[in-house]
Amino acid sequence: METIILQKEENIAVLTISRPKALNALNTKVLKELDGAIDEIENDNEIYALVITGDGEKAFVAGADIAEMKDMNPKEARNFSILGNKVFRRIESLRIPTIAAVNGYALGGGCELAMACDIRIASETAKFGQPEVGLGITPGFGGTQRLSRIVGKSKAKELIFTGDVIDANEALRIGLVNKVVKKEELIDEAKKLANKISQNAPIAVGLAKAAIDRGYQADIDTAIMYEAEVFSQCFATEDQKDGMTAFTEKRKVEKFKN
Ligand code: HXC
Repeated sequence: METIILQKEENIAVLTISRPKALNALNTKVLKELDGAIDEIENDNEIYALVITGDGEKAFVAGADIAEMKDMNPKEARNFSILGNKVFRRIESLRIPTIAAVNGYALGGGCELAMACDIRIASETAKFGQPEVGLGITPGFGGTQRLSRIVGKSKAKELIFTGDVIDANEALRIGLVNKVVKKEELIDEAKKLANKISQNAPIAVGLAKAAIDRGYQADIDTAIMYEAEVFSQCFATEDQKDGMTAFTEKRKVEKFKN
């Protein structure tokens, strides 16, 4: 892989989008390599949480590659959107939790990539926006759908219609990011969170993620039945036996196995 760096550290992985000369803009090659990296992550049962970040000081991802899109016809543009959406949906649907460590510009496809992650931590220097209408296009990697689900329909419309770029503190205020930290602390904070999550029972964390995500799209009666389903599945795991036995014996589980 030339544009993706995938590093594993114990039970977490850090995936870096690396095309710094183009501010990590997403072209077809990056998207395909990202797809390949997801295969690797999915097939590795030792990875319990994933951090996604951008290479360099300036950008997380400054968007989809404008130079590549410039001369596309509608059919090519549709295929490009479908490719990005497929890859982002795979990230969103990963069994493990994902944390975007947003280290700079997260514009257009970059904001969309961050939104496909479960949790977003931003450096003080991060900037977010969906500036597509200024280029004569709409968001195309899920921005019209995920932004409204995260910040509400009205705020999403304001951001998408104006193309305004907002700073990290405004992103925190509207609920687009979970936390803002100093630039030099960003990766450590994201890893710390990933490590904290990875101390918990991985199957339970994965099932909780699935319950939240699936339930969010369903009516409350269907959603709570789905919760009962995943809750019961936990009782077929060693982790549940270990976790509850440890509690009754007044000790902590050293390491969950599943
Ligand atoms: C291709 C990009 C790029 C992009 C930056 N670059 N963003 N190349 N696609 N999205 C390149 C520049 O052309 C330049 O290359 C180099 O990165 C550095 O960028 P500069 O513009 O010189 O840096 P600066 O002046 O600091 O401005 C930073 C910036 C600006 C504000 C982030 O680059 C910018 O506005 N970028 C575009 C942001 C954007 O509109 N994103 C949405 C794209 S549409 P050279 O070779 O000149 O050094 C989108 C749609 C998603 O994402 C859905 C698709 C289906």
